[in-house]
Amino acid sequence: MTKYIKDFILVDRQQVTTACHLLKLRPEDGIMPAMLPGQFVQVEVKHSKSTFLRRPISINFVDTADNTLWLLVRCAGEGTTALVESAVGDKMNLVLPLGNGFNATPGGNRLLIGGGVGVAPLLYLGKQLRDSGTDVTFLLGARSDADLAMIEEFEKYGTVCISTEDGTRGEKGFVTMHTMMNKRFDLIQCCGPMPMMKAVARKAKETGTPCEVSLENLMACGIGACLCCVEDTTDSGNVCVCKEGPVFNINRLKW
Ligand SMILES: Cc1cc2nc3c(=O)[nH]c(=O)nc-3n(C[C@H](O)[C@H](O)[C@H](O)COP(=O)(O)OP(=O)(O)OC[C@H]3O[C@@H](n4cnc5c(N)ncnc54)[C@H](O)[C@@H]3O)c2cc1C
Ligand code: FES
Repeated sequence: MTKYIKDFILVDRQQVTTACHLLKLRPEDGIMPAMLPGQFVQVEVKHSKSTFLRRPISINFVDTADNTLWLLVRCAGEGTTALVESAVGDKMNLVLPLGNGFNATPGGNRLLIGGGVGVAPLLYLGKQLRDSGTDVTFLLGARSDADLAMIEEFEKYGTVCISTEDGTRGEKGFVTMHTMMNKRFDLIQCCGPMPMMKAVARKAKETGTPCEVSLENLMACGIGACLCCVEDTTDSGNVCVCKEGPVFNINRLKW
């Protein structure tokens, strides 16, 4: 896919959980590049004295009616904090779309599992799957009700099941303990903290359910040049997550 270095204008910014902000960006020239669910962008951090590298952020949603690209950003450190502190009207420079996305082949039933800010790429995936006639169930996990992001948006594209560690919403516990994990699905697609993705992968292997995960290895260049994001795979040895991933079938990972 053609990649672009492109200026966007921040047209809306909302705080959606204690730690996450939703940024809506419109291309300055009005032309939204084509992108796939599971791909990501590298955002230049302008208002930070110490963050020199771009930061990788998943494509959360592409709103074609509004011509906006949505990014769900959790304040993890200085770079992401500077991003969410951008003002409406600010110009933001993005490299996009990067990496390979989730399997979006239509049909059957899918379980999309997200934890924390890892729910981000599942919204656009859910919409594309639902639009193509796939039966979509989201299983979204967080520490607490206050940490659950964009639930009303997810409800537009599938059945939403929730797990919270403190039991303030949905079933109490981790996503892997949710009763929905006992149902058969054609494919599980997952993004979230590494321990959660490994636990989901273990469950999927136990039940023989195909499963994809989206890795969030530390990245610098985002285009396969610096080798700082490598992951050891069963079929090709060390590969760059930014270029070959971030989405991998779990059979390719040495977990
Ligand atoms: C493909 C991909 C997609 C991503 N999508 C999103 C997204 O949609 N929304 C979002 O908020 N974040 C996302 N991330 C994570 C985000 O890129 C990091 O949180 C961010 O780079 C941290 O930068 P910082 O300057 O704020 O923090 P730093 O000061 O660089 O780091 C702060 C802390 O966060 C940790 N950290 C840094 N990068 C990562 C990472 N990649 N994964 C886990 N921990 C990290 C550091 O180890 C450190 O403990 C994604 C990462 C990747 C690789
Ligand atoms: S981030 Fe540079 S090779 Fe992946």
